[in-house]
Amino acid sequence: MTRFVYATATTLDGFLADADNSLDWLFAVEGGEESLSGLAEFTAGVGVLVMGSTTYQWVLDHERLLDHPEKWREFYPGMTTFVFSSRDLPVIPGADLTVVSGPVADHLPTILAAAGDKDVWVMGGGDLAGQFTDIGRLDEIMLSVAAVTLGSGAPLLPRRLESDRLRLVHVAQVGQFAELRYQLR
Ligand SMILES: NC(=O)c1ccc[n+]([C@@H]2O[C@H](COP(=O)([O-])OP(=O)(O)OC[C@H]3O[C@@H](n4cnc5c(N)ncnc54)[C@H](OP(=O)(O)O)[C@@H]3O)[C@@H](O)[C@H]2O)c1
Repeated sequence: MTRFVYATATTLDGFLADADNSLDWLFAVEGGEESLSGLAEFTAGVGVLVMGSTTYQWVLDHERLLDHPEKWREFYPGMTTFVFSSRDLPVIPGADLTVVSGPVADHLPTILAAAGDKDVWVMGGGDLAGQFTDIGRLDEIMLSVAAVTLGSGAPLLPRRLESDRLRLVHVAQVGQFAELRYQLR
């Protein structure tokens, strides 16, 4: 059965990116590469990627994907992508990518059909992941907590989820990252 998994790196104080949407702080943390290879195991079971427009724009700009569209298929092979945005965003040529908007519940049938028997990777940002928790459709949160604090930035999960909804099921150290997995009820 398809699971919706919010998998992301975060700072110790719960930010996905700094106030300028930069991830430079993340790439500076020791163990980042090992952390990404753990992610590769997870992505083998992923059929669909879901992300908000800031996250999409970051990947687009950082990897210059409009100039090098082939990189997208290298990064996310065989995955269908849904980008949530109210705007007309540039679409990477040849990518299996659709821009959608409005309540996430309206798009669940399409997302589930595209996933087949694979999982959905909710990449972020935090509010989009929160929209999935709001409708009870987030099954797991998979975090790589980097040994860094930023004080401000894009929040990990701006929702109140009390302890009866979260169960810690995995803890590991990878370099200067703490890997944590929580199942949601
Ligand atoms: N540390 C990591 O591993 C990691 C992981 C993921 C993301 N990030 C970074 O964290 C930051 C996250 O940015 P963010 O907090 O702004 O979140 P985001 O989810 O990437 O983007 C938010 C935007 O998506 C659009 N959106 C969200 N839900 C929508 C809906 N239901 N319908 C229509 N549009 C919707 C809205 O913009 P519009 O309608 O105006 O387009 C909204 O302002 C980015 O800098 C990203 O690169 C880091």
